[in-house]
Amino acid sequence: MLKRTHNCNDLRKEHVGQEVILTGWAQKRRDHGGVIFIDLRDRSGIAQVTASPETCSEEVFAAADSVRSEYVLAVKGTVRLRPEGMTNEKLATGDIDVVATELVILNKAKTPPFYLTDDVDVDENIRLKYRYLDLRRPSMKNNIMLRHRVVKAMRDYMDEHGFLEIETPILQKSTPEGARDYLVPSRVHEGEFFALPQSPQQFKQLLMVAGMERYFQIARCFRDEDLRADRQPEFTQLDMELSFVDEDDIMTLNEGLIKHIFKVALDRDIPTPFRRMTWDEAMNKYGSDKPDLRFGLEMVDLCDIAKGCGFKVFDQAVANGGVVKAINAKGGVHKLSRRDIDALTKYVSIYGAKGLAYFSISDENEVKSPLLKFLSEEEVKAIFDRVGAEPGDIIFCVADTFKTTCDALGHLRLELGKRFDLIDEDELSFLWVTEFPLLEWDEETERFYAMHHPFTCPMMEDVPLMETDAGKVRARAYDMVLNGVEVGGGSIRIHDAELQEKMFKLLNMAPEEYTEQFSGLLNAFQYGAPPHGGLAFGVDRLLMLMAKRDTIRDVIPFPKTQSAMDVMMEAPSPVADAQLRELHIKLDVKEKEEK
Ligand code: AMO
Ligand code: AMP
Repeated sequence: MLKRTHNCNDLRKEHVGQEVILTGWAQKRRDHGGVIFIDLRDRSGIAQVTASPETCSEEVFAAADSVRSEYVLAVKGTVRLRPEGMTNEKLATGDIDVVATELVILNKAKTPPFYLTDDVDVDENIRLKYRYLDLRRPSMKNNIMLRHRVVKAMRDYMDEHGFLEIETPILQKSTPEGARDYLVPSRVHEGEFFALPQSPQQFKQLLMVAGMERYFQIARCFRDEDLRADRQPEFTQLDMELSFVDEDDIMTLNEGLIKHIFKVALDRDIPTPFRRMTWDEAMNKYGSDKPDLRFGLEMVDLCDIAKGCGFKVFDQAVANGGVVKAINAKGGVHKLSRRDIDALTKYVSIYGAKGLAYFSISDENEVKSPLLKFLSEEEVKAIFDRVGAEPGDIIFCVADTFKTTCDALGHLRLELGKRFDLIDEDELSFLWVTEFPLLEWDEETERFYAMHHPFTCPMMEDVPLMETDAGKVRARAYDMVLNGVEVGGGSIRIHDAELQEKMFKLLNMAPEEYTEQFSGLLNAFQYGAPPHGGLAFGVDRLLMLMAKRDTIRDVIPFPKTQSAMDVMMEAPSPVADAQLRELHIKLDVKEKEEK
């Protein structure tokens, strides 16, 4: 057997004259008038192999001639300088090639369903069905290698900072708070279920009660929620929890972690400390709790001007407790047509906006707006002054509830940022968002939900508000945002049973209910819980941004499709009746339509 002596990508000018053995896949085979050229690829990269009747035996030449794409080969040969004019600048090994003296076909391959190079556009479902081929493509392979380096850098950093890596159970108790659980039926306990963890939250808090002081885990989490580009049903967190700390300790530690990861994995220097912004400021200025600060286009409040103004929609919005806000799209008249404005109006309606008012100011200072007939000159001037309007600008306004206005204008801002080409793709803009509301009101069920989770500690000065104006209570919670993506989040936890009970009451939970659901943690808290807090990073999201990808699927080796399926293994799938009987399960499903 031919044993490899070098990786393909190792070979340089200084190896000329050496005999080497390479192994790998035939990326490409060409026949140039009796000379066979094979681009041989292994994990490290590509080296060119040549074979001609002058340089090898008839047998070896015949083998080289029969090679097709993705055949698996072992090649013995001599490294030589490529003849003048034949060097390949694009290849690290482009100065040399390997003249084959032996060539063994270790395995043949069917023709792959798509070219295994980076510059081809392949339907993602095909890529996922043949993920093992997709991962042979250089950019995907690089993503997997980056993932390894990042996770290793995380482990090293946590270890250096006194954290213990501790595993927590995958079979857990189902709790209705949060996203929908993936359930696992118990065979032993008829009619009962485990749930897969949405995160190790309760266990990591139990580890603090257990005195572990500093815990971390590269943890797989499972959430049955609607999928998006940055959401998968199973994803990976760098999860951590610390005792005897406050927000600043956790933020500083994690800034150091980010610095370390980016240096080790990408050789980039990240300046610290990161900027901090309260949730309130983020929402009011950027319409988002994860603002992308790589560009401006900030939202401006018009409530005081709108109140009592001639345009009823604006006046009414404020009178009903809503808001009116504007964005000045600087120089917009040169970039947006009437048609574009109509399209943007449609776009904001996705986020619930009932309209998108605009003022378009020509270079000659001529103002066009459907609102001119409603507003006085002074009112228009007040708006223009507030947003700093100049000739060439378009001012967009939305009047609605706070939530809808923020959502609509926040998304409009992102869209304008893209259309106006305001985003520097190389910039890394880190930010902490702090002082989140503790609770979120749900109109449908008419109750509060924990914005983060029920164990998040309220800010001490807001605790009295829990009795009087619970919606105003701020949490000791923080999210790390990178380029408009929430890459991590955490909080200081409640470690006091009385405060925890208060919190459950606000969440409309009766004592029987919360003691039943959270018995493990609540019992533990009676035996000396230290003050503690933590954070979890979305490892996949961080990697997506590091690899400059648009979806986390590109940095996960084997992700699910948008419709939560594994198209390669064909999961989920029906199971045998006997298996179901064992699990005490009877199905109640509609006949599936023939595919
Ligand atoms: P949270 O729910 O904010 O917090 O999750 C932490 C981070 O995980 C990432 N994330 C996801 N990534 C991919 N797909 C998903 N479906 C998905 N959901 C979340 C995000 C997010 O910031 N236990 C708490 C953490 C704590 O309080 O310590 C938790 O899970 O990047
Ligand atoms: P109308 O009176 O319906 O013709 O609306 C006049 C202008 O106001 C149109 O440009 C609408 O898009 C805009 N508009 C209507 N409702 C709102 C709203 N809630 N917020 C912002 N603009 C609105």
